[in-house]
Amino acid sequence: MPRHESVWSATAALPECGPIDQNLHADVCVIGGGIAGLSTAYHLSKAGRSVVVLDDGPLAGGMTRMTTGHLVNMLDDRYFELEKLRGEEAMRVAADSHTAAIDSIDEIVRREGIDCDFSRLDGYLLLADGDKPATLERELDAAHRAGLKGVERVARAPYQWDTGPALRFPRQGQFHPLKYLAGLAEAIRREGGRIFCHSHADHVEGGVPGLVHVGQHVVTADAVVVATNVPVNNLLTLHTKQAPYMTYVIGARVPAGSVPKVLAWDTGDPYHYLRMQDDLLIVGGEDHKSGQAHDSPQRYRNLEAWARQRFPMMQEVAFMWGGQVMEPADYLAFIGHNPMDHDNIFVATGDSGMGLTHGTIAGILLCDLILGRKNPWEKLYSPSRVPLKAAAELAREDLNMAAQYSDWLTGGDVPSVDLIPRDSGAIVRRGLEKIAVYRDPEGVLHERFAACPHLGCIVQWNPGEKTWDCPCHGSRFDATGHVINGPANHNLLSAKRPDHKRAA
Ligand SMILES: Cc1cc2nc3c(=O)[nH]c(=O)nc-3n(C[C@H](O)[C@H](O)[C@H](O)COP(=O)(O)OP(=O)(O)OC[C@H]3O[C@@H](n4cnc5c(N)ncnc54)[C@H](O)[C@@H]3O)c2cc1C
Ligand code: FES
Repeated sequence: MPRHESVWSATAALPECGPIDQNLHADVCVIGGGIAGLSTAYHLSKAGRSVVVLDDGPLAGGMTRMTTGHLVNMLDDRYFELEKLRGEEAMRVAADSHTAAIDSIDEIVRREGIDCDFSRLDGYLLLADGDKPATLERELDAAHRAGLKGVERVARAPYQWDTGPALRFPRQGQFHPLKYLAGLAEAIRREGGRIFCHSHADHVEGGVPGLVHVGQHVVTADAVVVATNVPVNNLLTLHTKQAPYMTYVIGARVPAGSVPKVLAWDTGDPYHYLRMQDDLLIVGGEDHKSGQAHDSPQRYRNLEAWARQRFPMMQEVAFMWGGQVMEPADYLAFIGHNPMDHDNIFVATGDSGMGLTHGTIAGILLCDLILGRKNPWEKLYSPSRVPLKAAAELAREDLNMAAQYSDWLTGGDVPSVDLIPRDSGAIVRRGLEKIAVYRDPEGVLHERFAACPHLGCIVQWNPGEKTWDCPCHGSRFDATGHVINGPANHNLLSAKRPDHKRAA
Protein backbone atom coordinates (compact mmCIF):
# COMPACT_ATOMS: atom_id res chain seq x y z
CA MET A 1 0.00 0.00 0.00
CA PRO A 2 1.35 3.46 -0.84
CA ARG A 3 1.94 5.80 2.09
CA HIS A 4 -0.61 8.59 2.03
CA GLU A 5 1.81 11.44 2.64
CA SER A 6 4.17 13.53 0.58
CA VAL A 7 7.63 12.19 -0.09
CA TRP A 8 8.95 15.37 1.57
CA SER A 9 7.24 14.71 4.90
CA ALA A 10 8.50 11.14 4.79
CA THR A 11 12.12 12.13 4.22
CA ALA A 12 12.68 15.25 6.36
CA ALA A 13 11.63 16.31 9.82
CA LEU A 14 9.64 19.53 10.02
CA PRO A 15 11.63 22.27 11.76
CA GLU A 16 11.12 22.30 15.54
CA CYS A 17 9.40 25.24 17.21
CA GLY A 18 7.10 25.95 20.13
CA PRO A 19 4.03 28.16 20.73
CA ILE A 20 4.07 31.85 21.59
CA ASP A 21 3.86 32.37 25.38
CA GLN A 22 3.91 36.15 25.84
CA ASN A 23 2.97 39.43 24.19
CA LEU A 24 5.61 40.56 21.73
CA HIS A 25 6.55 43.49 19.52
CA ALA A 26 8.40 43.29 16.20
CA ASP A 27 8.94 45.50 13.18
CA VAL A 28 7.01 42.93 11.16
CA CYS A 29 4.71 40.05 12.13
CA VAL A 30 4.44 37.37 9.43
CA ILE A 31 1.51 34.95 9.70
CA GLY A 32 2.21 31.65 7.91
CA GLY A 33 5.36 29.55 7.87
CA GLY A 34 5.20 28.25 4.29
CA ILE A 35 7.48 29.38 1.50
CA ALA A 36 5.78 32.80 1.15
CA GLY A 37 5.93 33.63 4.86
CA LEU A 38 9.42 32.33 5.51
CA SER A 39 10.85 33.96 2.35
CA THR A 40 9.38 37.30 3.48
CA ALA A 41 10.72 36.87 7.00
CA TYR A 42 14.13 35.90 5.60
CA HIS A 43 14.54 39.02 3.44
CA LEU A 44 13.26 41.32 6.18
CA SER A 45 15.54 39.86 8.82
CA LYS A 46 18.50 40.08 6.43
CA ALA A 47 17.61 43.76 6.01
CA GLY A 48 17.91 44.21 9.78
CA ARG A 49 14.21 44.21 10.67
CA SER A 50 12.95 42.37 13.75
CA VAL A 51 10.49 39.68 12.70
CA VAL A 52 7.99 37.41 14.46
CA VAL A 53 6.66 34.45 12.44
CA LEU A 54 3.48 32.68 13.57
CA ASP A 55 2.17 29.39 12.23
CA ASP A 56 -0.77 27.52 13.66
CA GLY A 57 0.55 24.10 12.72
CA PRO A 58 4.05 22.79 12.58
CA LEU A 59 6.32 25.01 10.50
CA ALA A 60 6.11 24.24 6.78
CA GLY A 61 3.08 22.02 7.45
CA GLY A 62 0.77 23.71 4.89
CA MET A 63 0.66 23.40 1.11
CA THR A 64 4.46 23.74 0.83
CA ARG A 65 4.62 20.24 2.32
CA MET A 66 2.41 18.98 -0.53
CA THR A 67 4.21 20.55 -3.46
CA THR A 68 6.20 18.70 -6.13
CA GLY A 69 9.01 21.23 -5.92
CA HIS A 70 9.37 22.34 -9.56
CA LEU A 71 10.99 25.78 -9.74
CA VAL A 72 10.13 27.15 -13.14
CA ASN A 73 9.84 30.30 -15.21
CA MET A 74 7.45 28.55 -17.57
CA LEU A 75 3.91 29.81 -16.81
CA ASP A 76 1.45 27.00 -16.22
CA ASP A 77 -1.28 29.08 -17.89
CA ARG A 78 1.00 29.94 -20.85
CA TYR A 79 2.70 33.23 -21.73
CA PHE A 80 0.52 33.75 -24.79
CA GLU A 81 -2.60 33.58 -22.63
CA LEU A 82 -1.14 36.10 -20.17
CA GLU A 83 -0.26 38.41 -23.06
CA LYS A 84 -3.87 38.31 -24.26
CA LEU A 85 -5.13 39.39 -20.84
CA ARG A 86 -2.45 41.76 -19.64
CA GLY A 87 -0.17 42.64 -22.57
CA GLU A 88 3.46 42.19 -23.52
CA GLU A 89 4.97 44.25 -20.69
CA ALA A 90 3.16 42.11 -18.10
CA MET A 91 4.51 39.02 -19.78
CA ARG A 92 8.07 40.38 -19.54
CA VAL A 93 7.73 41.25 -15.86
CA ALA A 94 6.27 37.80 -15.16
CA ALA A 95 9.18 36.13 -16.94
CA ASP A 96 11.73 38.34 -15.12
CA SER A 97 10.23 37.78 -11.70
CA HIS A 98 9.90 33.99 -12.00
CA THR A 99 13.45 33.76 -13.35
CA ALA A 100 14.63 35.97 -10.47
CA ALA A 101 12.80 33.70 -8.00
CA ILE A 102 14.74 30.62 -9.16
CA ASP A 103 17.98 32.64 -9.07
CA SER A 104 17.13 33.88 -5.58
CA ILE A 105 16.58 30.33 -4.25
CA ASP A 106 19.87 29.27 -5.90
CA GLU A 107 21.68 32.18 -4.23
CA ILE A 108 20.10 31.65 -0.78
CA VAL A 109 20.93 27.94 -0.90
CA ARG A 110 24.59 28.76 -1.56
CA ARG A 111 24.83 31.76 0.79
CA GLU A 112 23.21 29.98 3.74
CA GLY A 113 24.69 26.55 2.97
CA ILE A 114 21.24 24.89 2.80
CA ASP A 115 21.46 21.18 1.97
CA CYS A 116 18.12 20.76 0.15
CA ASP A 117 18.91 18.75 -3.01
CA PHE A 118 18.68 21.94 -5.10
CA SER A 119 19.72 21.49 -8.71
CA ARG A 120 19.36 23.25 -12.03
CA LEU A 121 17.88 21.20 -14.85
CA ASP A 122 15.92 21.44 -18.08
CA GLY A 123 12.14 21.63 -18.13
CA TYR A 124 9.99 20.41 -21.02
CA LEU A 125 6.54 21.51 -22.08
CA LEU A 126 4.99 18.45 -23.75
CA LEU A 127 1.94 18.27 -25.98
CA ALA A 128 -1.01 16.64 -24.24
CA ASP A 129 -2.85 13.87 -26.10
CA GLY A 130 -4.85 15.44 -28.92
CA ASP A 131 -3.29 18.91 -28.63
CA LYS A 132 -1.82 20.53 -31.73
CA PRO A 133 1.84 21.58 -32.22
CA ALA A 134 0.56 25.12 -32.90
CA THR A 135 0.15 25.50 -29.10
CA LEU A 136 3.89 25.01 -28.73
CA GLU A 137 4.65 27.48 -31.53
CA ARG A 138 2.51 30.17 -29.93
CA GLU A 139 4.13 29.60 -26.56
CA LEU A 140 7.62 29.62 -28.04
CA ASP A 141 7.00 32.98 -29.72
CA ALA A 142 5.47 34.42 -26.58
CA ALA A 143 8.31 33.13 -24.37
CA HIS A 144 10.82 34.84 -26.66
CA ARG A 145 8.84 38.09 -26.61
CA ALA A 146 8.77 37.79 -22.80
CA GLY A 147 12.57 37.77 -22.89
CA LEU A 148 13.18 34.19 -21.75
CA LYS A 149 16.58 33.09 -22.95
CA GLY A 150 17.34 29.73 -24.51
CA VAL A 151 13.79 28.40 -24.81
CA GLU A 152 13.69 26.21 -27.91
CA ARG A 153 11.54 23.70 -29.77
CA VAL A 154 12.90 20.15 -29.72
CA ALA A 155 11.74 17.10 -31.69
CA ARG A 156 11.01 15.22 -28.45
CA ALA A 157 11.73 15.33 -24.72
CA PRO A 158 14.43 12.93 -23.46
CA TYR A 159 11.98 10.29 -22.16
CA GLN A 160 11.87 6.72 -23.48
CA TRP A 161 8.37 7.15 -24.86
CA ASP A 162 7.86 9.26 -27.98
CA THR A 163 6.66 12.52 -26.49
CA GLY A 164 6.43 14.25 -29.88
CA PRO A 165 7.63 17.86 -30.19
CA ALA A 166 8.23 19.79 -26.98
CA LEU A 167 9.62 23.12 -25.74
CA ARG A 168 12.82 23.02 -23.69
CA PHE A 169 13.18 25.62 -20.93
CA PRO A 170 16.80 25.69 -19.69
CA ARG A 171 18.02 26.47 -16.13
CA GLN A 172 14.89 25.54 -14.23
CA GLY A 173 15.29 24.19 -10.70
CA GLN A 174 14.13 21.55 -8.25
CA PHE A 175 14.64 21.06 -4.53
CA HIS A 176 13.38 19.34 -1.40
CA PRO A 177 10.93 21.96 -0.14
CA LEU A 178 11.00 21.02 3.53
CA LYS A 179 14.78 20.95 3.71
CA TYR A 180 14.83 24.37 2.04
CA LEU A 181 12.32 25.81 4.52
CA ALA A 182 14.25 24.31 7.45
CA GLY A 183 17.33 26.16 6.13
CA LEU A 184 15.38 29.41 5.75
CA ALA A 185 14.06 29.09 9.31
CA GLU A 186 17.59 28.59 10.66
CA ALA A 187 18.84 31.61 8.73
CA ILE A 188 15.96 33.75 10.08
CA ARG A 189 16.81 32.67 13.63
CA ARG A 190 20.48 33.46 13.08
CA GLU A 191 19.40 37.01 12.25
CA GLY A 192 17.40 37.21 15.50
CA GLY A 193 13.97 36.36 14.02
CA ARG A 194 11.49 34.65 16.37
CA ILE A 195 9.43 31.78 14.99
CA PHE A 196 6.41 30.24 16.75
CA CYS A 197 4.36 27.19 15.79
CA HIS A 198 1.00 25.96 17.08
CA SER A 199 0.12 29.67 17.37
CA HIS A 200 -3.13 30.43 15.59
CA ALA A 201 -3.61 34.05 14.52
CA ASP A 202 -7.26 34.60 15.47
CA HIS A 203 -7.61 38.16 14.31
CA VAL A 204 -5.59 40.85 12.52
CA GLU A 205 -6.09 44.59 13.01
CA GLY A 206 -4.39 47.23 10.89
CA GLY A 207 -3.37 50.67 12.14
CA VAL A 208 -0.44 51.87 14.21
CA PRO A 209 0.67 49.47 15.44
CA GLY A 210 -0.84 46.47 13.66
CA LEU A 211 -2.20 43.88 16.06
CA VAL A 212 -2.26 40.11 15.71
CA HIS A 213 -4.28 38.31 18.36
CA VAL A 214 -3.07 34.81 19.17
CA GLY A 215 -5.23 33.29 21.91
CA GLN A 216 -4.32 35.13 25.14
CA HIS A 217 -1.41 36.95 23.49
CA VAL A 218 -0.98 39.88 21.15
CA VAL A 219 1.83 40.63 18.73
CA THR A 220 2.16 44.31 17.89
CA ALA A 221 4.03 45.23 14.73
CA ASP A 222 4.61 48.13 12.35
CA ALA A 223 3.55 45.87 9.49
CA VAL A 224 1.69 42.55 9.27
CA VAL A 225 2.07 40.05 6.43
CA VAL A 226 -0.70 37.48 6.02
CA ALA A 227 0.96 34.60 4.16
CA THR A 228 -1.52 31.89 5.05
CA ASN A 229 -1.80 30.67 1.43
CA VAL A 230 -5.44 31.79 1.34
CA PRO A 231 -5.83 35.03 3.34
CA VAL A 232 -7.72 34.58 6.61
CA ASN A 233 -8.15 38.35 7.09
CA ASN A 234 -9.96 39.15 3.85
CA LEU A 235 -13.66 38.29 3.80
CA LEU A 236 -14.44 38.64 0.12
CA THR A 237 -12.40 40.97 -2.14
CA LEU A 238 -9.65 38.55 -3.05
CA HIS A 239 -11.74 35.41 -2.89
CA THR A 240 -13.86 36.46 -5.85
CA LYS A 241 -10.72 36.84 -8.00
CA GLN A 242 -9.37 33.34 -7.50
CA ALA A 243 -10.74 29.81 -7.35
CA PRO A 244 -9.58 26.75 -5.37
CA TYR A 245 -8.51 23.56 -7.16
CA MET A 246 -7.41 20.23 -5.70
CA THR A 247 -4.46 18.51 -7.37
CA TYR A 248 -3.07 14.99 -6.79
CA VAL A 249 0.37 13.34 -6.89
CA ILE A 250 1.86 9.85 -6.89
CA GLY A 251 5.50 8.90 -6.27
CA ALA A 252 6.50 5.57 -7.85
CA ARG A 253 9.83 3.70 -7.71
CA VAL A 254 11.72 3.30 -10.99
CA PRO A 255 15.01 1.48 -11.65
CA ALA A 256 18.06 3.71 -11.17
CA GLY A 257 18.88 5.71 -14.30
CA SER A 258 15.78 4.61 -16.21
CA VAL A 259 14.12 8.05 -16.21
CA PRO A 260 16.11 11.21 -16.98
CA LYS A 261 16.32 13.91 -14.34
CA VAL A 262 14.32 16.64 -16.04
CA LEU A 263 11.11 18.50 -15.25
CA ALA A 264 8.08 18.21 -17.51
CA TRP A 265 4.48 19.41 -17.85
CA ASP A 266 1.98 18.86 -20.60
CA THR A 267 -0.46 21.24 -22.27
CA GLY A 268 -3.56 19.42 -20.98
CA ASP A 269 -6.24 21.03 -18.85
CA PRO A 270 -5.83 19.76 -16.19
CA TYR A 271 -2.20 19.17 -16.96
CA HIS A 272 0.27 16.49 -15.84
CA TYR A 273 3.56 17.42 -14.17
CA LEU A 274 6.61 15.20 -13.69
CA ARG A 275 9.98 15.13 -11.96
CA MET A 276 12.44 12.72 -10.37
CA GLN A 277 13.53 12.64 -6.72
CA ASP A 278 16.19 9.97 -6.15
CA ASP A 279 14.61 6.72 -7.41
CA LEU A 280 11.07 8.11 -7.34
CA LEU A 281 9.15 9.24 -10.37
CA ILE A 282 6.75 11.94 -9.21
CA VAL A 283 3.65 12.49 -11.33
CA GLY A 284 0.93 15.04 -10.56
CA GLY A 285 -2.33 16.21 -12.09
CA GLU A 286 -6.04 15.24 -12.19
CA ASP A 287 -7.03 18.65 -10.76
CA HIS A 288 -10.64 19.52 -10.04
CA LYS A 289 -12.46 22.38 -8.42
CA SER A 290 -12.25 21.89 -4.65
CA GLY A 291 -15.30 20.33 -3.05
CA GLN A 292 -16.85 19.56 -6.43
CA ALA A 293 -15.71 16.00 -7.14
CA HIS A 294 -16.24 12.89 -5.03
CA ASP A 295 -13.89 10.55 -6.85
CA SER A 296 -10.43 11.46 -5.58
CA PRO A 297 -9.36 7.78 -5.10
CA GLN A 298 -10.09 7.26 -8.80
CA ARG A 299 -7.91 10.26 -9.62
CA TYR A 300 -4.90 8.55 -8.06
CA ARG A 301 -5.67 5.46 -10.17
CA ASN A 302 -5.90 7.65 -13.29
CA LEU A 303 -2.50 9.18 -12.56
CA GLU A 304 -0.99 5.73 -12.09
CA ALA A 305 -2.49 4.45 -15.36
CA TRP A 306 -1.25 7.53 -17.24
CA ALA A 307 2.25 7.07 -15.85
CA ARG A 308 2.42 3.28 -16.40
CA GLN A 309 1.51 3.75 -20.05
CA ARG A 310 4.51 6.04 -20.53
CA PHE A 311 6.95 4.52 -18.02
CA PRO A 312 6.50 0.73 -18.28
CA MET A 313 9.54 0.23 -16.02
CA MET A 314 7.59 1.84 -13.14
CA GLN A 315 7.50 -0.33 -10.02
CA GLU A 316 5.27 0.14 -6.97
CA VAL A 317 3.58 3.42 -6.10
CA ALA A 318 5.22 4.34 -2.79
CA PHE A 319 3.53 7.68 -2.01
CA MET A 320 0.32 9.46 -2.84
CA TRP A 321 -0.80 12.87 -1.69
CA GLY A 322 -3.01 15.79 -2.66
CA GLY A 323 -3.29 19.48 -1.96
CA GLN A 324 -4.93 22.68 -3.06
CA VAL A 325 -3.83 25.55 -5.28
CA MET A 326 -5.60 28.87 -5.77
CA GLU A 327 -6.10 29.80 -9.42
CA PRO A 328 -6.22 33.57 -10.02
CA ALA A 329 -8.56 34.61 -12.85
CA ASP A 330 -5.70 36.42 -14.62
CA TYR A 331 -3.04 33.76 -13.89
CA LEU A 332 -0.68 35.59 -11.51
CA ALA A 333 -0.47 35.77 -7.73
CA PHE A 334 -1.80 38.62 -5.57
CA ILE A 335 1.10 40.04 -3.59
CA GLY A 336 1.06 43.45 -1.88
CA HIS A 337 -1.21 45.65 0.25
CA ASN A 338 -4.41 43.95 1.34
CA PRO A 339 -7.17 45.74 -0.62
CA MET A 340 -9.48 48.02 1.37
CA ASP A 341 -7.37 47.67 4.51
CA HIS A 342 -4.83 49.73 6.46
CA ASP A 343 -1.58 50.49 4.63
CA ASN A 344 0.44 48.24 6.92
CA ILE A 345 -1.40 44.98 6.15
CA PHE A 346 0.04 42.86 3.32
CA VAL A 347 -1.03 39.59 1.70
CA ALA A 348 0.35 36.90 -0.61
CA THR A 349 -2.08 34.53 -2.30
CA GLY A 350 -3.12 33.19 -5.73
CA ASP A 351 -0.25 30.72 -5.85
CA SER A 352 -1.51 28.79 -8.89
CA GLY A 353 0.64 25.74 -9.73
CA MET A 354 3.63 28.07 -9.36
CA GLY A 355 3.37 28.83 -5.66
CA LEU A 356 7.03 28.17 -4.95
CA THR A 357 8.24 30.87 -7.32
CA HIS A 358 5.25 33.08 -6.44
CA GLY A 359 6.07 32.59 -2.72
CA THR A 360 9.70 33.51 -3.39
CA ILE A 361 8.61 36.57 -5.41
CA ALA A 362 6.40 37.49 -2.42
CA GLY A 363 9.45 37.38 -0.14
CA ILE A 364 11.37 39.85 -2.30
CA LEU A 365 8.45 42.12 -3.23
CA LEU A 366 6.87 42.37 0.23
CA CYS A 367 10.25 43.12 1.79
CA ASP A 368 10.69 46.01 -0.67
CA LEU A 369 7.16 47.34 -0.10
CA ILE A 370 7.56 47.23 3.68
CA LEU A 371 10.94 48.97 3.50
CA GLY A 372 9.50 51.61 1.16
CA ARG A 373 11.73 50.55 -1.76
CA LYS A 374 10.56 50.65 -5.38
CA ASN A 375 10.04 47.27 -7.01
CA PRO A 376 9.28 46.82 -10.72
CA TRP A 377 6.97 43.87 -9.98
CA GLU A 378 4.58 45.80 -7.69
CA LYS A 379 1.94 46.67 -10.29
CA LEU A 380 1.85 43.24 -11.93
CA TYR A 381 1.11 41.44 -8.65
CA SER A 382 -1.04 44.15 -7.00
CA PRO A 383 -3.93 42.49 -5.10
CA SER A 384 -6.06 45.55 -5.90
CA ARG A 385 -5.92 45.04 -9.65
CA VAL A 386 -9.19 44.48 -11.45
CA PRO A 387 -8.73 41.70 -13.97
CA LEU A 388 -11.07 43.29 -16.52
CA LYS A 389 -10.08 41.19 -19.49
CA ALA A 390 -10.56 38.07 -17.41
CA ALA A 391 -14.22 39.06 -16.91
CA ALA A 392 -15.54 35.96 -18.67
CA GLU A 393 -13.40 33.67 -16.52
CA LEU A 394 -14.36 35.62 -13.38
CA ALA A 395 -18.06 35.42 -14.23
CA ARG A 396 -17.77 31.68 -14.84
CA GLU A 397 -16.06 31.07 -11.48
CA ASP A 398 -18.42 33.44 -9.60
CA LEU A 399 -21.48 31.71 -11.09
CA ASN A 400 -19.98 28.39 -10.11
CA MET A 401 -19.47 29.73 -6.56
CA ALA A 402 -23.02 31.07 -6.33
CA ALA A 403 -24.40 27.74 -7.57
CA GLN A 404 -22.82 26.01 -4.56
CA TYR A 405 -25.34 27.64 -2.21
CA SER A 406 -28.06 25.45 -3.77
CA ASP A 407 -26.50 22.61 -1.71
CA TRP A 408 -28.57 23.98 1.19
CA LEU A 409 -31.71 22.81 -0.63
CA THR A 410 -30.69 19.26 -1.43
CA GLY A 411 -30.80 16.15 0.75
CA GLY A 412 -27.75 14.60 2.39
CA ASP A 413 -25.23 12.20 0.81
CA VAL A 414 -26.80 9.42 2.87
CA PRO A 415 -30.20 9.21 4.64
CA SER A 416 -28.70 7.97 7.92
CA VAL A 417 -25.34 8.00 9.72
CA ASP A 418 -25.67 4.20 9.96
CA LEU A 419 -24.67 4.03 6.29
CA ILE A 420 -21.31 5.76 6.83
CA PRO A 421 -18.47 3.20 6.89
CA ARG A 422 -15.49 3.50 9.24
CA ASP A 423 -12.85 6.11 8.33
CA SER A 424 -15.28 7.81 6.00
CA GLY A 425 -17.51 10.88 5.97
CA ALA A 426 -20.83 12.01 4.51
CA ILE A 427 -23.27 14.89 4.73
CA VAL A 428 -26.51 14.09 6.52
CA ARG A 429 -29.59 16.34 6.52
CA ARG A 430 -31.13 16.89 9.95
CA GLY A 431 -34.17 19.18 9.73
CA LEU A 432 -33.00 22.48 8.27
CA GLU A 433 -29.37 21.74 9.06
CA LYS A 434 -26.74 19.83 7.16
CA ILE A 435 -24.27 17.90 9.28
CA ALA A 436 -20.78 16.77 8.22
CA VAL A 437 -20.41 13.35 9.85
CA TYR A 438 -17.13 11.43 10.03
CA ARG A 439 -16.96 7.90 11.40
CA ASP A 440 -13.39 7.31 12.60
CA PRO A 441 -11.55 3.94 12.33
CA GLU A 442 -12.81 2.97 15.83
CA GLY A 443 -16.41 3.66 14.84
CA VAL A 444 -16.78 6.92 16.79
CA LEU A 445 -18.90 9.54 15.04
CA HIS A 446 -17.66 13.14 14.78
CA GLU A 447 -20.45 15.53 13.86
CA ARG A 448 -19.95 19.10 12.74
CA PHE A 449 -22.27 21.62 11.15
CA ALA A 450 -21.51 21.47 7.43
CA ALA A 451 -21.84 25.24 6.93
CA CYS A 452 -18.40 26.66 6.20
CA PRO A 453 -17.49 29.32 8.79
CA HIS A 454 -16.28 31.61 5.99
CA LEU A 455 -19.50 32.42 4.12
CA GLY A 456 -21.74 29.45 4.74
CA CYS A 457 -21.34 27.13 1.72
CA ILE A 458 -21.83 23.44 2.49
CA VAL A 459 -18.54 21.53 2.78
CA GLN A 460 -18.11 18.26 0.87
CA TRP A 461 -16.33 15.04 1.83
CA ASN A 462 -13.10 14.36 -0.09
CA PRO A 463 -12.68 10.57 0.20
CA GLY A 464 -9.08 10.49 -1.10
CA GLU A 465 -7.76 13.10 1.33
CA LYS A 466 -10.27 12.46 4.13
CA THR A 467 -10.98 16.16 4.41
CA TRP A 468 -14.05 18.39 4.24
CA ASP A 469 -13.53 20.77 1.32
CA CYS A 470 -15.59 23.90 0.76
CA PRO A 471 -16.67 24.27 -2.89
CA CYS A 472 -16.74 28.09 -2.70
CA HIS A 473 -13.44 29.78 -1.77
CA GLY A 474 -11.03 27.04 -0.71
CA SER A 475 -11.53 26.45 3.02
CA ARG A 476 -10.64 22.89 3.99
CA PHE A 477 -11.04 21.02 7.27
CA ASP A 478 -9.66 17.73 8.52
CA ALA A 479 -12.01 14.79 9.10
CA THR A 480 -12.92 16.00 12.59
CA GLY A 481 -13.54 19.56 11.44
CA HIS A 482 -10.30 21.40 12.26
CA VAL A 483 -9.52 24.09 9.73
CA ILE A 484 -6.49 23.39 7.52
CA ASN A 485 -6.94 25.98 4.74
CA GLY A 486 -8.41 29.50 4.78
CA PRO A 487 -10.23 31.73 4.16
CA ALA A 488 -12.13 30.18 7.09
CA ASN A 489 -10.15 30.90 10.23
CA HIS A 490 -12.19 28.67 12.55
CA ASN A 491 -13.13 25.02 12.83
CA LEU A 492 -16.48 23.63 11.71
CA LEU A 493 -18.91 24.08 14.62
CA SER A 494 -19.63 21.03 16.71
CA ALA A 495 -23.04 19.43 16.12
CA LYS A 496 -22.50 16.52 18.45
CA ARG A 497 -25.65 14.91 19.82
CA PRO A 498 -25.26 12.68 22.86
CA ASP A 499 -27.22 9.83 21.23
CA HIS A 500 -24.93 9.85 18.20
CA LYS A 501 -21.67 9.68 20.09
CA ARG A 502 -20.92 6.11 19.20
CA ALA A 503 -22.25 3.91 16.45
CA ALA A 504 -21.40 0.56 14.95
C1 LIG B 1 0.20 18.86 -5.15
C2 LIG B 1 0.82 20.21 -5.35
C3 LIG B 1 1.90 20.34 -6.22
C4 LIG B 1 2.48 21.59 -6.40
N1 LIG B 1 3.58 21.70 -7.19
C5 LIG B 1 4.19 22.90 -7.33
C6 LIG B 1 5.39 23.00 -8.07
O1 LIG B 1 5.92 22.01 -8.56
N2 LIG B 1 5.95 24.23 -8.22
C7 LIG B 1 5.39 25.33 -7.64
O2 LIG B 1 5.94 26.43 -7.81
N3 LIG B 1 4.27 25.26 -6.90
C8 LIG B 1 3.66 24.06 -6.73
N4 LIG B 1 2.55 23.96 -5.95
C9 LIG B 1 2.06 25.15 -5.27
C10 LIG B 1 2.96 25.47 -4.07
O3 LIG B 1 3.47 24.33 -3.49
C11 LIG B 1 2.18 26.25 -3.03
O4 LIG B 1 1.48 27.27 -3.68
C12 LIG B 1 3.06 26.90 -2.00
O5 LIG B 1 3.86 25.94 -1.39
C13 LIG B 1 2.20 27.63 -0.99
O6 LIG B 1 3.04 28.27 -0.08
P1 LIG B 1 2.43 29.30 0.95
O7 LIG B 1 3.53 29.78 1.80
O8 LIG B 1 1.59 30.29 0.23
O9 LIG B 1 1.36 28.46 1.79
P2 LIG B 1 1.54 27.28 2.85
O10 LIG B 1 2.72 26.45 2.59
O11 LIG B 1 0.21 26.60 2.92
O12 LIG B 1 1.80 28.06 4.20
C14 LIG B 1 0.78 28.76 4.85
C15 LIG B 1 0.93 28.52 6.34
O13 LIG B 1 0.02 29.37 7.03
C16 LIG B 1 -0.39 28.70 8.20
N5 LIG B 1 -1.65 29.31 8.67
C17 LIG B 1 -2.85 29.31 8.05
N6 LIG B 1 -3.74 30.01 8.79
C18 LIG B 1 -3.09 30.45 9.88
C19 LIG B 1 -3.47 31.23 11.01
N7 LIG B 1 -4.70 31.73 11.18
N8 LIG B 1 -2.53 31.47 11.97
C20 LIG B 1 -1.26 31.01 11.84
N9 LIG B 1 -0.85 30.28 10.77
C21 LIG B 1 -1.76 30.01 9.81
C22 LIG B 1 -0.53 27.24 7.76
O14 LIG B 1 -0.42 26.37 8.87
C23 LIG B 1 0.62 27.10 6.77
O15 LIG B 1 1.76 26.51 7.35
C24 LIG B 1 1.95 22.72 -5.73
C25 LIG B 1 0.87 22.58 -4.86
C26 LIG B 1 0.31 21.34 -4.66
C27 LIG B 1 -0.83 21.21 -3.69
S1 FES C 1 -14.58 29.11 1.71
FE1 FES C 1 -16.00 30.69 1.48
S2 FES C 1 -17.84 29.78 2.11
FE2 FES C 1 -16.39 28.23 2.43
